[in-house]
Amino acid sequence: MLNSLFITGTDTDVGKTYVAAGFAVTLRKMGMDVGVMKPFAAGTAQKTGFKSEDVEILANAAHVNDPEILLNPQFFPIAASPYTALKNLKIKPDIQLILNSFKKLSQLHSMMLVEGMGGIMTPILRDYFVTNLIKDMKLPTIIVTRTKVGTINHTIMTCKMCEKYKIPVKGIVINNFDTGGYLIKELKRDLENLTNMPVLGSIPFIDDMSDASLYRIFKKNINFKSLLN
Ligand SMILES: Nc1ncnc2c1ncn2[C@@H]1O[C@H](COP(=O)(O)OP(=O)(O)O)[C@@H](O)[C@H]1O
Ligand SMILES: [Mg+2]
Repeated sequence: MLNSLFITGTDTDVGKTYVAAGFAVTLRKMGMDVGVMKPFAAGTAQKTGFKSEDVEILANAAHVNDPEILLNPQFFPIAASPYTALKNLKIKPDIQLILNSFKKLSQLHSMMLVEGMGGIMTPILRDYFVTNLIKDMKLPTIIVTRTKVGTINHTIMTCKMCEKYKIPVKGIVINNFDTGGYLIKELKRDLENLTNMPVLGSIPFIDDMSDASLYRIFKKNINFKSLLN
């Protein structure tokens, strides 16, 4: 689907949800009808609203009213990969359910932002990883990374796996929320040289998740033009 993106990252807690929310707000304000999805979510269920806090943030950012079964077809009440949930809770990840929900949402919106879980090799089934899900959804990816030392290793490994699975990478977003990490200018230079992928921009520490704030920050710091061509 034209312009749709799978937002993955070099790790869990790297900023996939914040970046997906910023993209959703900005693309919506640019006039796109943006749908969002978090195929699998895990953790402690929220008492009100959506079970997954990620889904809450994404749905608010995109201003969508789609049912939870489409936005987040499966929720596992433990903080673990879908594969570990399968082993520990005997809940089987249902790939067909995910793909059907994705298809339905794709028909309701003109572009989709799908947030992954963990990193690119997070296991879903014994022989099915986030990489396989991205392939089945036929989406290009955005890789969210951070500035903390170690990030270059994680980013190169993520790009290499995308290459292995023939997943197109639209670009890297540096989430600059750590203190004491690499200088952005040097990290951008090195990541672009080492991976041959464009760095679309870097996001500063965000203390205000309102629409206006996310729009201002993402519009200013992300090269949406190169993303949407
Ligand atoms: N740019 C940012 N500014 C401020 N805090 C951030 C930023 N990015 C991430 N965080 C913090 O890190 C946590 C994890 O980010 P999140 O987007 O949920 O990661 P992921 O979706 O990759 O697991 C957030 O709950 C937030 O507290
Ligand atoms: Mg998240």
